[in-house]
Amino acid sequence: MTDRYGLIGHPVAHSISPAIHALFAEQTGQDMTYSLLPAPPDGFRAAVADFVGAGGRGVNVTLPFKEEALRLADEAGPHAAAAGAANTLVFRDDRTIYAANTDGVGLARDLAALGLPVAGRELLIVGAGGASRGIVRPLLEAGARLAVANRTRARAEALVRELGASDALRCVPLDALADARFDGVINATSASLADATPALPDALCAHLAWGYDLVHGRGKPTAFVEWLRARGVSAAHDGAGMLLEQAAESFYLWRGARPDVGAARAWLAAQKW
Ligand code: ATR
Repeated sequence: MTDRYGLIGHPVAHSISPAIHALFAEQTGQDMTYSLLPAPPDGFRAAVADFVGAGGRGVNVTLPFKEEALRLADEAGPHAAAAGAANTLVFRDDRTIYAANTDGVGLARDLAALGLPVAGRELLIVGAGGASRGIVRPLLEAGARLAVANRTRARAEALVRELGASDALRCVPLDALADARFDGVINATSASLADATPALPDALCAHLAWGYDLVHGRGKPTAFVEWLRARGVSAAHDGAGMLLEQAAESFYLWRGARPDVGAARAWLAAQKW
């Protein structure tokens, strides 16, 4: 029987994950389907139960259910546990559920693929919501030194405290950024979704080697990528590669097969949005 996977979220209608996983399945010869599984805001558990009942083997989980996905699981991987959120569930044969968070690994792999240095570098993460929480641990594992800044400073302080303040993880006030030097900046705010950019000083860009927006611009630069380029940061990237890399890691957890992400990058770049 063809194995079934899907994406649970609210909303999910515009997701390109089905197309990505269809490509991965074709690349690796896996007999599977991947479909959109929209759920109402209070309907996550019911959507999972329905899908498992219909033979589902695993799901990706997106907003607003990532925290609930972790709570539902019987066992969690280290990145999901650290992030307090999961974007991948595996429905095992023994009826237990394993939760993973592949977002941060996806980002770390994309930064490596783009040739953007992380190890031993000072990186600024802007934002202190779920997206930031998901990337801190994998970036620390990749050897980065991280500072977190957020519009609401108390949230950045809480995030750093919960994930463990150290020499390599600290909080920085937004108004101190004009005098700070960073090698790279990562926009983990949801501002791009509203075509906005977080309020950052231009001086931040003077020493930056690169910048990255977690949001995928779908064929056109995000507001943050444009903001960086306008200030001379030419190595400015959106989250397209991260989207592919996190999907590839989820695919691997489900199928034990590694897709050809390089070919998928060329495929994604050629999409007409
Ligand atoms: P997510 O799970 O996507 O991270 P979230 O938990 O709602 O979503 O967090 C959104 C993040 O984007 C927060 O850090 C938010 O800042 P606040 O904590 O001050 O709300 C940040 N954010 C959203 N829009 C922003 C904007 N226009 N400028 C700066 N930061 C913004």
